[in-house]
Amino acid sequence: MEFRDIVARRRMVRHFSDEPVDRAVLERIAAVAQRAPSAGFSQGQRLVVVTEPEVRARVAEICHEGEYMKDGFDPWISRCSALFVPCVSERIYHDRYREPDKLQDDATEIEWPIPYWWMDVGCTVMLILLAAVDEGLAAGFAGAPDPNALREALGIPADFAPVGVIPVGHPLPDKRSPSLRRGWRPLDEFLRWEHW
Ligand SMILES: Cc1cc2nc3c(=O)[nH]c(=O)nc-3n(C[C@H](O)[C@H](O)[C@H](O)COP(=O)(O)O)c2cc1C
Repeated sequence: MEFRDIVARRRMVRHFSDEPVDRAVLERIAAVAQRAPSAGFSQGQRLVVVTEPEVRARVAEICHEGEYMKDGFDPWISRCSALFVPCVSERIYHDRYREPDKLQDDATEIEWPIPYWWMDVGCTVMLILLAAVDEGLAAGFAGAPDPNALREALGIPADFAPVGVIPVGHPLPDKRSPSLRRGWRPLDEFLRWEHW
């Protein structure tokens, strides 16, 4: 599939069959995600992939799947055969930027006007979403309001932040998010040439 078709096809899906996805396919998606860029090549991103039904059920609970169901959505987290949980460690960035080639002239670490760890894990998320489409699958994104609960359920170390849950699987017809009624902003609002 052409890259632009993958991008055009990508959307957040909220209904999946429980048909398993081959581990080789999940590994290919993870391998694409690993190629995300990172500031200073810190590579502070990590990925937990959950396929066991009981653990999926717990992750779905942490993401308040019941609330989605009250709003008429399907059990799109617990039923999806694979849940990708991208994580990032801020500490890895501080460690990297205290290495000699990254220290400032006064031997101090940069002040991080932009917290690049969030940017980098966002790149990881995007690659997962696109790689899923490239594999003929679909993906969604569920925020986890209590990251500590997710850490505990999945054994994620304290210095890694799980940024949410990406169900990846075989899509079924789904209820669309009411947010989509807003429509895309026009390109000329998003894009400015040469100057804002
Ligand atoms: C950072 C982020 C957080 C999101 N959180 C949720 C969420 O908690 N639950 C959900 O159903 N969708 C969530 N979404 C999906 C958005 O609602 C969705 O991307 C948006 O409505 C545009 O739809 P599309 O991605 O299908 O084009 C999130 C998306 C992003 C990028």
